[in-house]
Amino acid sequence: MKEQRVELPKHIELDKTPIDILDSIEKVEYEPEMSEYDLSFICGIIKKYRPQKCVEVGIAGGGTSAIILNAMYNYCENSEFHVVDKSKEYYHDRRKHSGFLGRQAYDFLSPKKDFKIKYVEHLGNVLPSYLDEIGNNIDFVLLDTVHILPGEVLDFLAVLPYLHVGTIVVLHDVTLNSISYGKKNDVATGVLFNSVVAEKYYEINSHDAMPNIAAFKVTEDTMKYIMNVFGALCQTWSYLPSKKELDAYNAVINKYYGKLYDYYAKICDTNAKNLNNISLRDKATLIGKLLLNRASSQYRIRNN
Ligand SMILES: C[S@@+](CC[C@H](N)C(=O)[O-])C[C@H]1O[C@@H](n2cnc3c(N)ncnc32)[C@H](O)[C@@H]1O
Repeated sequence: MKEQRVELPKHIELDKTPIDILDSIEKVEYEPEMSEYDLSFICGIIKKYRPQKCVEVGIAGGGTSAIILNAMYNYCENSEFHVVDKSKEYYHDRRKHSGFLGRQAYDFLSPKKDFKIKYVEHLGNVLPSYLDEIGNNIDFVLLDTVHILPGEVLDFLAVLPYLHVGTIVVLHDVTLNSISYGKKNDVATGVLFNSVVAEKYYEINSHDAMPNIAAFKVTEDTMKYIMNVFGALCQTWSYLPSKKELDAYNAVINKYYGKLYDYYAKICDTNAKNLNNISLRDKATLIGKLLLNRASSQYRIRNN
């Protein structure tokens, strides 16, 4: 093969200054759910690209949302920040609502006279249900939800028609399956990052063995080669979204991807069948175990 220049991922200048918002909001265990490196990477992107419309999908308590909001306050005037989570309640403490720390940061920053950010929460459903409300021309998206397939791959396919050439997509936990014991199925953001055609940002020469955050910039080729991402959905799914959720994804994919929808529908059906068979097998194994336990306890009673 002819020698060709290999396209390497680009470097992002880290910026940790917006993280200081954490001193002005409640301190909560597990929040934010990202390392200082990952947060500085996100803030570095916001500083460099100054996005006007940002979306975070998967917000947990909102510690990261608070930092993004502060970075937008520092670098993006007159902007919009939409936060999305399928759960209304914070998953580590159901008495609190998802994103409560982002709301605290908003309450702290919004009285400042130069604060001009529209902050909108979309809680209780998956991303495609909110896309028409959020609208087109999204400049920045952070995908950080379940990490198991189909997860963030489906969210990206749903949101892509609402992006433009130049939009930055940030993916968290791109190496989680390798760097954390017991997370072998947490591959969704890594699968997306490695299948999408785009301009990539990732620190391959970092001191960390494998950084856990990556980003890409949408180019003309992203939609042209989107078949790669649909193809990546053929990797075995770890869960089946609910019917209501699948209906929302199907509607947007049917609307925007033409003939690829039939291919996508086959991938969904096959995975649904496989997952249903697995759950039938699990039930059969469970019933088998129960019968075995009952038989052996009857045997013990008879022989006592
Ligand atoms: C890993 S946490 C997000 C962490 C947050 N971005 C941070 O950095 O602190 C995952 C969140 O995604 C939400 N989630 C899970 N599946 C989702 C989906 N399909 N769509 C939207 N949110 C989802 C969960 O309710 C949870 O709040």
